[in-house]
Amino acid sequence: MEVTYLGHSAFQVVGAGVTIYVDPFITGNPKAPYGLERLPKADYIFVTHGHADHVGDTVALAKRDDATVITTFEFAEHHLSKQGVKCHDMGVGGTYNFPFGKVRCTVAFHDSGVAGGNPAGFIFHVGDKVIYHAGDTALFSDMKLLGELEPIDLALLPIGGNYTMDRHDAVLAAKFLGAKTIIPMHYNTFPVIETDVEAFAKAIEAQGQQAVVLNPGETYAL
Ligand code: NI
Ligand code: MN
Repeated sequence: MEVTYLGHSAFQVVGAGVTIYVDPFITGNPKAPYGLERLPKADYIFVTHGHADHVGDTVALAKRDDATVITTFEFAEHHLSKQGVKCHDMGVGGTYNFPFGKVRCTVAFHDSGVAGGNPAGFIFHVGDKVIYHAGDTALFSDMKLLGELEPIDLALLPIGGNYTMDRHDAVLAAKFLGAKTIIPMHYNTFPVIETDVEAFAKAIEAQGQQAVVLNPGETYAL
């Protein structure tokens, strides 16, 4: 399994015969390593919520590759479907078995733009790995429950503060989740979410978990 960081909260996951993107904000993303034309063909795209820094290039990418977008009902219904994008909508707390593996749509404590619907996170099984992309969220104690329901190999957590949990809260989030490995996201894209990512990584390691800090364009082999 190869997990590539595309800057901000955007990731590409390739393995077990599928290519999956999460929150593919490339155009206009100051941290994007390269343009949309460099992205391999998408099979599935997760969109955690309706904010522009997460929806990003979803419509263009989904149409280019005839990919299925997995997102929450309101956002699929009121935005993506109307633009001719093929969607599989879910509700928070819902699970569904896709051809690549099981997906759990999780709560995220955030907002989602006018008529954007509920914000969410996603836990997805692909190959023999379990990945959690938290979306934009505050810290919440039910992350403990998520970790019990789905033993998480890799958690992608926002650490930039202001709009989401900061690096201190994200260390506690990692503990609650019990994930083996944590990759930080949603930081240093804009001045308001600048943070000390090395301090975050040290704190994660100090509590016995692995932190992997990726520069945009870098890949982690899971
Ligand atoms: Ni947001
Ligand atoms: Mn955001």
